[in-house]
Amino acid sequence: MNIGIIGLGSMGLNLAKNIISKKYKVYAYEENPEINNDLKKNKVKDLFLTESLNELLNKVISPRIIMLSLPADKVDEVINELTNILEPEDIVADLGNSLYSKSIERNTLLNSHKINFLGVGVSGGPRGAKNGPAIMVGGSKEAWNKTKHIFEDIAAKNHNESACCFFGSAGSGHFVKLVHNGIEYALMEGIAEVTNILDKVYNLNNNEIAKKFEDLLETNSSSFLLRITSEIINAKNENDQYFIDEVDPVIGQNGTGVWTIKAALDLGVGIPSIYEAVSTRSNSKNFKYNFEQNFNNKKYNPNDKYNENSIEQIIFFNFACSIYQGLNLINESNKWDFFNFKIEDIFKAWSAGCILQGRYLDIISKEFTKRKKIDPQYLHDLIQRNCSDQLKLIREFNSSAINMGITCPVLSSNLAYYDQMFSNHIIGETIQLQRSFFGLHPIKDKKGKNKINPYWTKL
Ligand code: 6PG
Repeated sequence: MNIGIIGLGSMGLNLAKNIISKKYKVYAYEENPEINNDLKKNKVKDLFLTESLNELLNKVISPRIIMLSLPADKVDEVINELTNILEPEDIVADLGNSLYSKSIERNTLLNSHKINFLGVGVSGGPRGAKNGPAIMVGGSKEAWNKTKHIFEDIAAKNHNESACCFFGSAGSGHFVKLVHNGIEYALMEGIAEVTNILDKVYNLNNNEIAKKFEDLLETNSSSFLLRITSEIINAKNENDQYFIDEVDPVIGQNGTGVWTIKAALDLGVGIPSIYEAVSTRSNSKNFKYNFEQNFNNKKYNPNDKYNENSIEQIIFFNFACSIYQGLNLINESNKWDFFNFKIEDIFKAWSAGCILQGRYLDIISKEFTKRKKIDPQYLHDLIQRNCSDQLKLIREFNSSAINMGITCPVLSSNLAYYDQMFSNHIIGETIQLQRSFFGLHPIKDKKGKNKINPYWTKL
């Protein structure tokens, strides 16, 4: 069996190397071979480079499997070109970070030419692409059956099982990847906020923070993101300067977090920590206005100590709340008639290779897979089991930061999210009465059965 790849940027090239290592023959076309030195010199072992799209398609045996790993703004152009050259039964798999609704449109277009389509979310960056990424697939079942072994071969493994899953209709794979990325933003921001608080409130140095995160790798909060954060905080350049002291603080983003929020708004699902993480990225262009303010005139007091056990709980709590928000979004998307996700499949795809991977996720996965659905009660049970002191340490940690004017939007929003669900409050009641007063909107009693007509509803 041979495979064609179009696009050899860092993801495409490393995916090609991975596929070749699994003994498939790979033909590839890259419009601009200058993008990579090895490519320019045609030095990638066993990769057959072609000079044109037509040559590539002539080399790949029918029914062809053509994988696309292209910049977002090139995908439509190439697909349009392919519709003129490919034949019925050929398969086009888009492995880029595409918007799920675009995958649905591309599927329709390609199907009208009797060409099969797969929208494939790939996580793990170029290293994952080379050594085993997490793979999230949606599209033609027939195409999946013909390509399943390739994707399973190249995917990361969790206890010999591939971190790879077919979720159903076109768009479903990219939808799961989109939510993955939204959660990724929240987890990254949560860890960055903890780092900032340990530095600015508790005066830990880079080495101590890195060590703290490294210790967490032995606990239930262990994760890929913690591991890399432990490394980067302590890393220095050739002049013995910490990278963290020299890097520009304006945060980049490719738009997948914004897509997650848009999907959540469309579905009416609250994902506050993902929203805060995206919002912080957008707002980071203002990070240069650093006035060194000391709100409340509170200065760091060397006697202030954080509780050693709190960090493990803080990380676990924040990871669990952000994951829950993402899973809830996926679950709610099942009300769209084109999706039909099973929660256990999501965990399978995220079990290895992806940015979200970690022991914390295995624990969450066990809790939710056992019950086969998403229910706030399970989040509650999970947190009760893993954060033993009723969140006291977490509240103290967040408050210490807020008291000093230290920013922690994701940590705060996760706590607010949890408290909103599981504490006793009268926020809904107050707002319903406000709506009733000024808008005469109908309201019901606590059981949601009988209408209530306060005196102000009679004009
Ligand atoms: C992954 C990542 C990967 C990437 C995104 C987000 O799962 O491998 O999500 O797709 O990191 O490009 O990048 P930004 O941070 O630039 O939005």
